[in-house]
Parts: sequence; C-alpha cells; structure tokens
Amino acid sequence: HNKITTSVLRQYKSEGRAITMLTAYDYSMAKLLDEAGVDMLLVGDSLGNVILGYDSTLPVTMEDMLHHVKAVCRGTKRAMVVADMPFMSYQVSIKKAVKNAGRLLQEGGAQAVKLEGGTAMADTVKAIVTAGIPVVGHLGLTPQSVNQLGGFKVQARDEQTAQTLLDDARALEAAGTFALVLECIPDGLARRVCEAVAIPTIGIGAGAACDGQVLVSHDLLGLHSGFTPKFAKKYANLHQEIKAAVEMYIKEVQERQFPAPEYSFKMADTMLEKLY
Ligand code: KIV
Ligand code: NA
Repeated sequence: HNKITTSVLRQYKSEGRAITMLTAYDYSMAKLLDEAGVDMLLVGDSLGNVILGYDSTLPVTMEDMLHHVKAVCRGTKRAMVVADMPFMSYQVSIKKAVKNAGRLLQEGGAQAVKLEGGTAMADTVKAIVTAGIPVVGHLGLTPQSVNQLGGFKVQARDEQTAQTLLDDARALEAAGTFALVLECIPDGLARRVCEAVAIPTIGIGAGAACDGQVLVSHDLLGLHSGFTPKFAKKYANLHQEIKAAVEMYIKEVQERQFPAPEYSFKMADTMLEKLY
C-alpha cells in the first residue's frame, strides 16, 4: 500500500479520477474504511455530534481531536488522514494556529489539517503551510460558524455571496491549501469554484462537479436513526442490523440458548487451545 499524498491527489485530479473521502473517528472503523480503499480519512470535528453527543461542533477541543486522530492513524495504512482544527484552535492568533496544526501532525500522526473560512483565514493558512503542514480549506456551510449563519442551510444562493465564495476559494488556493471542501452550496456554484481554482475540490452537498466527494461515514452507513440531510445517501441501514443483532443476543441470553456448548470450554481444552 502506497500512502496517499498531496501529489497523488493532484495526479488523481489530472487523470479525472474522483477522490473519495469519509469521516473516521476510531481505530476499527478507520481500518475498515482504509481497507475498503477510501483515499482520505477525515477526523472531522463532526466528532462532537456523531461520537460525543454534543449538538454542535463548537465544544470539541484539541485534546478531543488528538485522542481520536491517534486512534484513526493506528488503523490507517493507505489513506491520507486529515484532522479538523477544532473551534478556537486557529481563530485566536496565527501563532496558536500553527502550534495547534503542528500538534495534530506531531502528536496525532495526521498528514494534513482542515480549517473553516476563506479570505479571513488566508494569512493563517499561509503560516501553517510555511511550517510544512498541508492544509485543506472548507467553504460554504461552515458548522463552526453556525451561530453566525443562523442554522444549517444551503449557502451562497445569491450572486453576491456566490462571488464572495469564489473570492474565498481563490484566496485559499493562493495561500497554499492543497484541496477545498465545499459544503452545502448549489451545484452550479461548485462548478464555478472548480473552474476558478486548480486544486481538487471535495464536495458534500455540493453536486457532482467536484473532483471528489466526502460524507460522514455514520450517515452513509445508516448507523444512527436520527435526521440525515438530503445530500447524505444511505448506502446501508446498519442501525437496523445492529439493533436486530443485539435484540437477538438479549433474547438468547435470557432464554439460556447462548452460550451453546460450541462457545464454551471443557476443562481438557483449556490446556491446548490458544484463545487469541
Ligand atoms: O467534520 C466533518 O465531518 C466535516 C465534513 C462534513 C466535511 O467537516
Ligand atoms: Na468539520
């Protein structure tokens, strides 16, 4: 397995090969997704919602991110691991931003970081890239700004905000980002961003024109029964399958059907059998 690098992703784009990215937050899922062949694993700050049970990404800390980035990296051989910079880890000062981005690589083991925002973040991105840390940009619906955006909705729906987003994309490219996540924008605008910048675009709710796609793996797998947004295609219904399996286990234990003899040890076996 050759590790996916920024130059491999550039090559994929030039070949017209679509880039695949999914979120991962732990060792076993990262291993599974990596073995399935996904190009990039995002330890998203959606960690806050999906794994930690917060109602936004704002409470997620650097320590939370590092804990999960380390676990994901231990399970990953081929995919590039991208770590989200959590809220307030890069907005306060450029110095703090570089330091925290560095921690996600040095302590966490990630290969790149992602942060939200456009032109206003250009100098921050430049400083992080100068330190030798690859950066992914994130435009459109940026969940860390939910209190400013006034909720989770499609962004840049008029020409003026569309122009701002195009300027943001150009500013991020000029600042040195190697890829751009575009979240919840009209597909026509995503197409214009793709024409405006040379770096790969990775869409989520941004239509088919992007160079790659990203989804929250729990949405794609149907791991939860709650709300999933329109753009999140459910490729499996694991919530139902897991629930059925657990209900079966409960029933078999209560009815004393499990463990049957084949799942038990005889005194004579214990000397011979290797358990793990
Ligand atoms: O945190 C996350 O999962 C993300 C993706 C939705 C792009 O930022
Ligand atoms: Na995120």
